[in-house]
Amino acid sequence: MTRDIDILSHRRTFFLAVNTGFVTDGIPDQRFLDFYATRSSPELYCSIVGNVVVPGGYRTNAVTPVLSENLIWKHIADSIAAKGSLPGIQLATTWEGYIGQKKFRALNSAAFISEACRFVDSMTISDVESTLNSFEFAADIAIKHGFRHIQIHAAHGYLLSLLIDYRINRNSATVLGTLASLAERLKGRGIETSIRISCKTGDADFDSNGAERLQDSVANLPFDYIDLSSGFYNIDKRLIYPARPDVIDSRLHESISIGLRHPTRSFIISGRTFKHDWTDLASNFHPGICRDLIANPRFLQERHNGCQNQNRCHYYSRGEDHLTCGRWLSS
Ligand SMILES: Cc1cc2nc3c(=O)[nH]c(=O)nc-3n(C[C@H](O)[C@H](O)[C@H](O)COP(=O)(O)O)c2cc1C
Repeated sequence: MTRDIDILSHRRTFFLAVNTGFVTDGIPDQRFLDFYATRSSPELYCSIVGNVVVPGGYRTNAVTPVLSENLIWKHIADSIAAKGSLPGIQLATTWEGYIGQKKFRALNSAAFISEACRFVDSMTISDVESTLNSFEFAADIAIKHGFRHIQIHAAHGYLLSLLIDYRINRNSATVLGTLASLAERLKGRGIETSIRISCKTGDADFDSNGAERLQDSVANLPFDYIDLSSGFYNIDKRLIYPARPDVIDSRLHESISIGLRHPTRSFIISGRTFKHDWTDLASNFHPGICRDLIANPRFLQERHNGCQNQNRCHYYSRGEDHLTCGRWLSS
């Protein structure tokens, strides 16, 4: 265990976004604040709260919080910082009429891809611009509240993951250019940035052609970190929260191969990260964790004692309205 800690000591550990459902009337409540405060510590470099909908945007589910001027956001950022972690926030939007599927795998994933292409085709230049502007506006609000790491959610089949993908959006280069400018502007203000992508959607045919080009186009953007996730929510959630050893291994290998293609960029890798041997991993990889820290708020101090795969945390898929865990007893 001491050796693990030594190997990881020069890397930065991120608590990755969790849509907790701890909201009242769309606003984070005390449960939300406590959830993040109790998991933040000097051992955790950055706690990324999320996902949080940009003003004017659309939620991933009915209990996704929307960013606003409400001072609860400042209290959340302050409480994370007071516990020793950098306060981060993941900004996201879906689109009008979006419904996340309850099943873990879609019966017809090609249909979701076709629908996504049609939807993106129907967006005007001004629709896309106003979507991207709302991320800039949201980043301003978040910074005012005290968040110091802004993550752009361009993963999991939500709107930005469609807009950045040249296979779905013929104007993806413009979108990538606008995101690059946003990252530069935030950096100029001393704010750390990341962008989260899905390396695969989960649709085998779609993924077999052009995924590397997408990954490379994002890895070249001037964000401080590229957060490598996988899976589209409405195609295959097993890639988002891998549990099977083969899925965990293939996510790690894919992440490593992207990192090796871009040795000067920093990557956050996730998917049971602390089960891997970090000895030989290059120093541009940083661990992102989620379920272990949900299950045990003190996981970083007790690394043998984390998630046991009870699957209770998938509250939306189970028809519930907030996070629960078989190990951690939430309110
Ligand atoms: C209950 C739950 C909610 C999640 N919500 C989000 C989210 O809002 N945004 C996001 O990018 N990822 C979300 N994730 C995915 C995690 O951030 C993480 O990438 C994934 O669980 C794999 O990491 P792990 O193996 O350490 O759990 C969620 C995961 C869980 C279990």
